[in-house]
Parts: sequence; structure tokens; C-alpha cells
Amino acid sequence: MQNETNTPTRRLVITCQSGLESLVKRECERLGCTEIITTDRLISCSGTDQNMYELLTWSRFSNRVYIELVSSKIEDFDTLYDTLNGLKWTDYLTGKERIIVEAASTRSTLEHTPTIQSVSQRAIFSTLNTPNLTNGIEVHILILIIDNMAHILLDITGDPLHKRGYRREAGEAPIKENLAAALVAFANWKYTTPLSDPMCGSGTIAIEAVMIARNIAPGLARHFRVEELRFHDSAVLQQVQDTARSKIYPSGKYTVTASDIDPEMIRVARWNAKRAGVDGDIIFSVGDYVSSPTSEGIIISNPLYGNRLQNNQIDAIYQRLVRDVGAQWGGFITSHDIGKNGLANKKLLNGGEECRFWYLKG
Ligand SMILES: C[S@@+](CC[C@H](N)C(=O)[O-])C[C@H]1O[C@@H](n2cnc3c(N)ncnc32)[C@H](O)[C@@H]1O
Repeated sequence: MQNETNTPTRRLVITCQSGLESLVKRECERLGCTEIITTDRLISCSGTDQNMYELLTWSRFSNRVYIELVSSKIEDFDTLYDTLNGLKWTDYLTGKERIIVEAASTRSTLEHTPTIQSVSQRAIFSTLNTPNLTNGIEVHILILIIDNMAHILLDITGDPLHKRGYRREAGEAPIKENLAAALVAFANWKYTTPLSDPMCGSGTIAIEAVMIARNIAPGLARHFRVEELRFHDSAVLQQVQDTARSKIYPSGKYTVTASDIDPEMIRVARWNAKRAGVDGDIIFSVGDYVSSPTSEGIIISNPLYGNRLQNNQIDAIYQRLVRDVGAQWGGFITSHDIGKNGLANKKLLNGGEECRFWYLKG
């Protein structure tokens, strides 16, 4: 497909965790992608190669970006085989990759995912005329069948996008970077207001907040799978990343504080912030939140919950959080049942566990 400027457009499919779809959709719109369709944990859009590299570099909230090689109605295995066999895989792959075929099916005639996987694998290998290798670069192909529409997707991400590259050490139950960024977005932080995370662990929420405020693209310090694929255009990626670097706002304009009761976590958080290039924007301290003086501005936090704490500690922490968030804005994410409290909440998953983000509705 070609657009007005003769730049080829692709269909791009982006996955995210449940609850973050609206944030990813907004990212696609901001980057100028078109024909955006949002479904559960899935956003698809049309975009140029530049949009494809921009999504990888700029998306704070998504998990993976795929290019859609084909989408068509498929209701039997012969058609699945022929469709995959008819694709020109050599445009994308060299045959020296280790290919992993994944499959998911919803409300469709073809529903046995192991068979979908094996039929697809046979079709791909016969086109590439190669056996699957056990070494070589790992490339994931996802066969997604929804309502009998099969989407053949090639992963161009590699490590999922929450892996920004700055967090080499983490404490117990660290929050994923994209979820931390989403909490900052949901809390509607105005960058001129001070922000604090009083139970910061490895510092993820504070780091992501500063990255958002300073407009630091989250994918600037990492590698993407597309860089090893045949159609990769290093000049376009370079240009996208140079532009992203030129858009970073200078340090020193924000008041973000991060504290934790555990001095070791503060050491880890400092290092992570340094690697992310935002250590100059975060004030770190060791302290017990429950007995700390009220901080200025909004609080965004991810406290420990469940059996990780003694009951009396839990009560004290949640009472203080409900009071502070109620008075100061912000929010906190937990799976702990905190009962009636006057705050609004949004269902999210944290590390596969159902949680709620409790916040003060504006
Ligand atoms: C779930 S972890 C936070 C993880 C963090 N969001 C991250 O990405 O690494 C909760 C943190 O709360 C800290 N904590 C527990 N009780 C505390 C208290 N009373 N005051 C301050 N921090 C506390 C723990 O040391 C732990 O690092």
C-alpha cells in the first residue's frame, strides 16, 4: 500500500495490557498513525516505516509492536497453510533465524492452537526452504485468529517494550515500567506540581514520571528485533532517534521525590535513575512513610500488599495513603482489599495479578 508521498504504509499491531488501550491509542494518534482500531489489549493502525520506528522508540505504554503480514478470513487448515505458504518470507527473514510460532484463537472455527502452530510452522519453513534452527536470532510470529479473521503478525520488538534498559536491579515485586508510566498518566500529573513515591522500591514510578516530564523517549537506550530483519532501514531508525534526542527537555525543572524504608532499595533506585539519565531530577531519601511528614504535591505509589506485610503495618500504610491521596491527588495500585474509602478505582493487572488503581477523581 502507498500513501500520498509514495511512502509504503504498513498495518501495525500493538499489544498492551488490559486497561492501557486508551493510552496506546493516543500514542498512535500523536504519531500520526491512521485507521486506528482498538480492541481488548490490541491496537491496530496504519503507518509508514517512520511511524513503525517511532512507535518502537516512543511508546511508553505498550508491550509489543508487530507488523501485520496479511489478514484474511481463514476457517480451515488448508487455507491457513496456503496463506502462510504464499507469503514472501524471504522479504523479512534470511532463514537463519530461530522462528517461534505462537497462536491465539477467539470465537473461531480453528481453535486448536497447537495445530495452528504446527501447520503454520510447516508452511513457513517450506517457503524459506530451511529447517528451524535451535540457535540464531529468535523471531516470533503470532497467528492471531479472531472471529475467523486470521492476522499473521511478525514481532519487530524483541524484548517487550517495558524493558527500557535502565532497570538492571529491582527489589521485591517491582512494577513494570509501562504500567508505572500509565499510573503517572492516569493520575494526570501536571509537571509543575511536586510528585512523590514514598514506597519507591527500585524507583520505577519516579523514573518514568521524570522521563514523561522531560519527554525522554523510553526506547532510546535499547535494541529492537527489527534491527536484525531483512527490511530494516537503519537510516530511518537513526533519524527517528536523533529527532527524539533533540526533543528532550533539560533537567532541573521538576520536583520528584522517592523514598523507601529500605536503604538498599534507595541505593538500587539511585542507580536505575542514573542509568535512565534522570538522577538529577529525583530527590531520594530513606524513611518510613507512615511516620513521615506530609509531602507537597501528588503521591503515586505501589505499596507492598497481602502477606508481604504484617496486618498492623498494612492498615497504617493504607490509612495514610487513602488520606494523602484524598487530600493531595495522585493514586496507588494494590490488590489489597482496602474497603470503602471515597476514592475512584480502575481495574488493572500488575504482574498478572488483578489490582486496582485508587485515585481521586477530578
Ligand atoms: C511493591 S514495592 C515497590 C516496588 C516499586 N514500585 C518498584 O518498581 O520497584 C513496595 C516497597 O515499599 C517499601 N516499604 C514497605 N513499607 C514501607 C514503609 N512503611 N515506608 C516506606 N517504604 C516501605 C518496601 O521496602 C518496598 O520497596
